[in-house]
Amino acid sequence: MCGIVGVLTDHEAAPILVEALKRLEYRGYDSAGIATVHNGMLDRRRAVGKLHNLADLLVYEPLPGKAGIGHTRWATHGGPTVRNAHPHRAGRVVVVHNGIIENYRALKEALADREFESDTDTETIAHLCETFLDRGMSPREAAAETLKHLEGAFALAFLFDGEEDLIVAARKGSPLAIGHGEGEMYVGSDAIALSPLTDRITYLDEGDYAFVTRSGVEIRDADGRQVHRDTVKIAAQAAQVDKAGHKHFMVKEIFEQPTVLAQCLAHYTGNGAVELPDADLDFAATDRLIMVACGTAHYACLVAKYWFEQIAGLPCDVDIASEFRYREPPVSDRATALFVSQSGETADTLAALRYTRDKAMAVVSLVNVPQSSIARESDTALPILAGVEIGVASTKAFMNQLGALACLAILAGRQRGQLTPEREAELVGTLLSLPAMINQALALEDQIRHQTGKLAEARSVLFLGRGPMYPMALEGALKLKEISYIHAEAYASGELKHGPIALVDNNLPVIVLAPRDALFDKTVSNMQEVMARDGKVWLVSDAEGVALAGEGVWETLTLPTIDPVFAPMLYAVPAQLIAYHTALHKGTDVDQPRNLAKSVTVE
Ligand code: F6R
Repeated sequence: MCGIVGVLTDHEAAPILVEALKRLEYRGYDSAGIATVHNGMLDRRRAVGKLHNLADLLVYEPLPGKAGIGHTRWATHGGPTVRNAHPHRAGRVVVVHNGIIENYRALKEALADREFESDTDTETIAHLCETFLDRGMSPREAAAETLKHLEGAFALAFLFDGEEDLIVAARKGSPLAIGHGEGEMYVGSDAIALSPLTDRITYLDEGDYAFVTRSGVEIRDADGRQVHRDTVKIAAQAAQVDKAGHKHFMVKEIFEQPTVLAQCLAHYTGNGAVELPDADLDFAATDRLIMVACGTAHYACLVAKYWFEQIAGLPCDVDIASEFRYREPPVSDRATALFVSQSGETADTLAALRYTRDKAMAVVSLVNVPQSSIARESDTALPILAGVEIGVASTKAFMNQLGALACLAILAGRQRGQLTPEREAELVGTLLSLPAMINQALALEDQIRHQTGKLAEARSVLFLGRGPMYPMALEGALKLKEISYIHAEAYASGELKHGPIALVDNNLPVIVLAPRDALFDKTVSNMQEVMARDGKVWLVSDAEGVALAGEGVWETLTLPTIDPVFAPMLYAVPAQLIAYHTALHKGTDVDQPRNLAKSVTVE
């Protein structure tokens, strides 16, 4: 949530800051702002809404200066207005902030004699720092002193009047990267923001703060001791963030799925078996798998629960991270805790991980960003290799989370003596056939574009599924509501008659995800119950399923036939395309849906 940048350069800072903010806009887009120091004087420009509003403002009101910081906001405290937009200023200091200052009320009370202009928690940081400057501290000392008083999660960058060669950056709970250029230095919420500027990155550790100047960076830990943090070269793929001719990042990423899934499976399989490079997991020694995640990643875990239980006979709990961390469940020392996160920075998932550390036998994570906090704090971090995901609605990361989880379930099955080599080879074969099947599903796009014209008129949509198709239905409903703003719910088909069936009338589209599996007939019975009450059923199945049950339904969609065990991976594709094309019909902002942000670093 919120993206921050900083540059110390020999060129004009404003265009560099705006370019870098463009690459961070996925983290929030309620407002944006930049500040520079020029001829010793701080100044700033801020605008409500998307970044282009700030860029437009800068055309009419340019902001000179070679040292600057910038921010793109996802509102927490205070609505999306100019006065709440960052950078926040108090006298000789401006601050940009990602995260939440939990003790800001107490700080604000203690600063009651100062005049606040915004409703934000961030402004208290600027005022606090200014009080330390008033006491005669240097900018470095004042910023370091300020940090001691802040509670909560934050990444911060400070810029000062009279200091054209200093940014103070700090990290506690939210990620922050320092970029090294030639005679220039950068600060950014992630390496992607800095990728056109440099591929040399130093990640701050928890509690670190840094004095950044054009000649380098001095890093201190939470106790103020000077420390060394490694500088790493980031992968070239982090720099590839264009739409490659597609209208939106989301659809580009949907269409990348065959390729990225194949890459992921190539990493985790070989010779008809699962192979785990660079990692050593022992599922035979564990008595329970605890999977914890948020949102789409949580649904991936719910699908995988069926796999771990059915393929590996491994008891498995799946939790929403924000519930898990405060429920404080008992965690046995024979449990394996598995955290799934695209960004690797989700605050609740990270907190849940920290809760299990020192309790579980192994703390494992599955992430898309290898340098992320969740990856770095796990005993074992496994990559999903989906490549940079920019669309706020997760698609290819979900697919690769499923791909990697399927491989882990197969590994667990082998280690626990539940799988013969023949069955393992069969399962791996099915997985490896998926990229081609996904291509076939993608070929249905035109049909789906046409069909969703009617869906876009609905006020509410139900998704139904049984077994592992139930969490897939949950994911389908999430995708639809987050980008088309149509209310959507998902139910396990068998649960329908326990309440939700009351919603059914001839205005309610009901999307039934039903491959021809052992539960197909039961799902079809539930579907008939909907049709008997005039519900408009859209059956998504394979050729046999559509032939058996497609008569009289509102719409059908025919997917390739697949071993039902991994069907959710194939059925994810039409669910994504249904959401995408419904959103296009409605004209919503697909890549940056309202109120959302990609990386949720506040709880
Ligand atoms: C929905 C979506 C979110 C994320 C969730 C967790 O399309 O993307 O629900 O899945 O915010 O994010 P990560 O995976 O980064 O922990």
